[in-house]
Amino acid sequence: MNYENILVEQRGAVTLITLNRPKALNALNSGILRELIAAFAAYDADDSKRCAVLTGSEKAFAAGADIKEMQEQGFAQMYASNFFAGWERVTATRKPWIAAVSGYALGGGCEVAMMADFIIAADTAQFGQPEIKLGVTPGMGGSQRLTHAIGKAKAMEMCLTGRMMGAEEAERAGLVARIVPAASLLDEALKTAETIAGMAPLAAIANKEMVNAAFETGLAQGIVFERRLFHGLFGSADQKEGMAAFVDKRKAEWTGS
Ligand code: HXC
Repeated sequence: MNYENILVEQRGAVTLITLNRPKALNALNSGILRELIAAFAAYDADDSKRCAVLTGSEKAFAAGADIKEMQEQGFAQMYASNFFAGWERVTATRKPWIAAVSGYALGGGCEVAMMADFIIAADTAQFGQPEIKLGVTPGMGGSQRLTHAIGKAKAMEMCLTGRMMGAEEAERAGLVARIVPAASLLDEALKTAETIAGMAPLAAIANKEMVNAAFETGLAQGIVFERRLFHGLFGSADQKEGMAAFVDKRKAEWTGS
């Protein structure tokens, strides 16, 4: 597929996807969504790829959903097209992916970053849900994912005031996994992605599924889910290989089976 709004590069076992609408600060229009759905589906389907990184520019990861595209839409159009529901196809990606955020991650930009398995932030990152200033609310999961990530007090304050949260506060609050200097953001994100890409593929998916289950289920049910997936991996060749490699003091050779 030829992409117009994103760049897709293959770096060994890692797929790097870069939002590429610099003049609009990577505002997320329907073209970007269509292309991201395709790029993530291609990543998920390619057995040689084991982790992905989604990034933007130095100034903006993404400054939100495209306001100019939404401006004239009415309720019937929004409802009939189930506007934004396509993002669920991005969050359906089974394999791990990281958001590498520099500069603005506002509105839909913050929401897409939170769709990632985790966020690595540049020290310049600014997160916010400023939709209230436009007379609306988050619409791509922001009110829910932000509240899960940082708790009600801060999420409510951010949604009601539209204020931005800098990288340090975001790390303290639990929104981002790690802060790195802006100049090394991509290197650090790719290095982390390579680490993940070097793990057993089935175990990577299982770890992702069980951490995500913590948001969907109660504790007792989540623990049973974890244990069943854990049991299931004992049916994989990679469990035999991983444990044999440990005992033999050698590097494991994963087959993803
Ligand atoms: C469309 C956008 C945009 C957006 C920026 N641009 N954000 N276009 N949608 N979300 C465009 C500007 O119109 C401008 O285009 C160009 O990008 C550069 O932006 P400037 O404002 O000139 O840059 P700067 O002065 O540096 O300010 C940066 C900024 C500001 C603080 C990030 O652009 C800003 O506040 N943007 C909107 C942020 C926002 O409200 N996001 C939430 C969107 S709603 P031109 O053509 O003029 O040069 C959302 C809702 C999701 O995400 C679900 C609810 C429905």
